[in-house]
Amino acid sequence: MALIDKHAILERNATLLLVGSFLVVTIGGIVEIAPLFYLENTIEKVEGMRPYSPLELAGRNIYIREGCYVCHSQMIRPFRDEVERYGHYSLAAESMYDHPFQWGSKRTGPDLARVGDRYSNEWHVQHLIEPRSVVPESVMPSYSFLKETPLEVKGFSTHLVANARVGVPYSDEMIASAEADLRAQPDPNADWSGVEERYPKAKLGDFDGNPSALTEMDALVAYLQMLGTLVDFSTYDEAAGYR
Ligand code: HEC
Repeated sequence: MALIDKHAILERNATLLLVGSFLVVTIGGIVEIAPLFYLENTIEKVEGMRPYSPLELAGRNIYIREGCYVCHSQMIRPFRDEVERYGHYSLAAESMYDHPFQWGSKRTGPDLARVGDRYSNEWHVQHLIEPRSVVPESVMPSYSFLKETPLEVKGFSTHLVANARVGVPYSDEMIASAEADLRAQPDPNADWSGVEERYPKAKLGDFDGNPSALTEMDALVAYLQMLGTLVDFSTYDEAAGYR
């Protein structure tokens, strides 16, 4: 019996074929996955990255809840057309605190990985209330209800606890002050020293155009405005990493 004919035995016996397939997938999986647990440089550390501030995290939760990722990616690929349009290509470290990550697989709208600081808060609020009032040909849905929906503050620290459990380095102090920080960041009259110290580069002040109310719009705009702003790419050296 030629070697190739022996394969027929496997193909005629469903159980044997299943066991064989399982073995192959297991070996392939181990070869691909196991080294990642031992590689020190799987994610290269990058200066400036920090966990999300409570307000940004709340905004990110809304981003996920509303399914913004269905139309928007957050990963700039290292190709010339992308880099010229969106900015420096995304680094692995930029999504190291994302659970789940928002790389996305569909771009009905533009990539948002570096949308922070590109527009004013007013622009974002207007665009989210009625996209076609600022971009007439837009097919993006309206999210005007976010401006009317109060942000749920009570119990927010549990979101930081959940992220800490999966490896995000939220300290006990960050968790303890989560609800105070969530209120302080978008409040123009608040003492921002704690937020600034715990979350460097966090954008401070009112986001939704209504300083007296804390809404889901505040959180979502705070999140959008920080995207891609933590890492300073003017000091980034392609060959050497950080100088
Ligand atoms: C049905 C698809 C779709 C969904 C869902 C969607 N968008 Fe969009 N978005 C678009 C399109 C198309 C554009 C480009 C036209 C425009 O600016 O409105 C866009 C543009 C944007 C821009 C401007 C980007 C730039 O660089 O000009 C932002 C910011 C944005 N969307 C945020 C969001 C957020 C936040 C959500 C979820 C609350 C969301 N989008 C949901 C389709 C979508």
